Amino acid sequence: MNKLIVANWKLNPQTEAEAIKLAKISDQENVVVAAPFVFLEVLKKILKKAKLGAENSSIEESGAFTGEVSAKMLKNLGVSYVIIGHSERRKYFGETDEIVNKKLDKIISNELNPILCVGESLETRKVGIPAVKEFIKNQLNKDLSNIENSKLKIENLVIAYEPIWAIGAGIPDKPSDSAEIIKFIKEFVHLTFKISQITVLYGGSVNARNAEQFLSEKEIDGALVGGASLKPKEFTKILEIAKNK
Ligand code: PGA
Repeated sequence: MNKLIVANWKLNPQTEAEAIKLAKISDQENVVVAAPFVFLEVLKKILKKAKLGAENSSIEESGAFTGEVSAKMLKNLGVSYVIIGHSERRKYFGETDEIVNKKLDKIISNELNPILCVGESLETRKVGIPAVKEFIKNQLNKDLSNIENSKLKIENLVIAYEPIWAIGAGIPDKPSDSAEIIKFIKEFVHLTFKISQITVLYGGSVNARNAEQFLSEKEIDGALVGGASLKPKEFTKILEIAKNK
């Protein structure tokens, strides 16, 4: 399996027992399980093949910042990936591109792998694909600002292209449209930021019925799966599809 599948559990599940059950069915190569902080310690013991991911990390390093969790804490716990810039964090928690950029710096300097989420609103998509590319170009310019000067090289930058209107909507993007935008993202990041190793995922209403179409697209390196990653049967099917790609 070459395609990368990232499970994004968001604010779920509510108990450790459920988290363990979900982790067991998700424990395969080329899978990242991004879970709420409270489950990371126990998941570290369960996951043998899948990598451990966090859904957020602090812009701060240490000190008087009540309620925050730093990138270093995550690194020391055995986390490998951190989701950053998810549209829900941008929308509900006021995360600007500037904040995303600072968090990214902390994530990289602690040798964690960022999973940077970008994507446009429905309004922008309605204007057309060129407008989407322009929007994402601006987002990447801000989110990745100065990254090429970072002392530490990003070994493998993961970007998730998630059109906001497709997240949790039950209606995904057209795989060929996403593939075109993802191709653009790869070329742009490669040229502008000199990052050679880049993995770009599609996210937004991926399920067992449409995973085949998305994962068959050459440019799409995998999927960021929200809702469907909480349904054991559904997620198992997605992993089976990914395994054969
Ligand atoms: P969804 O969420 O699969 O439920 O649409 C994707 C995401 O937000 O990462």
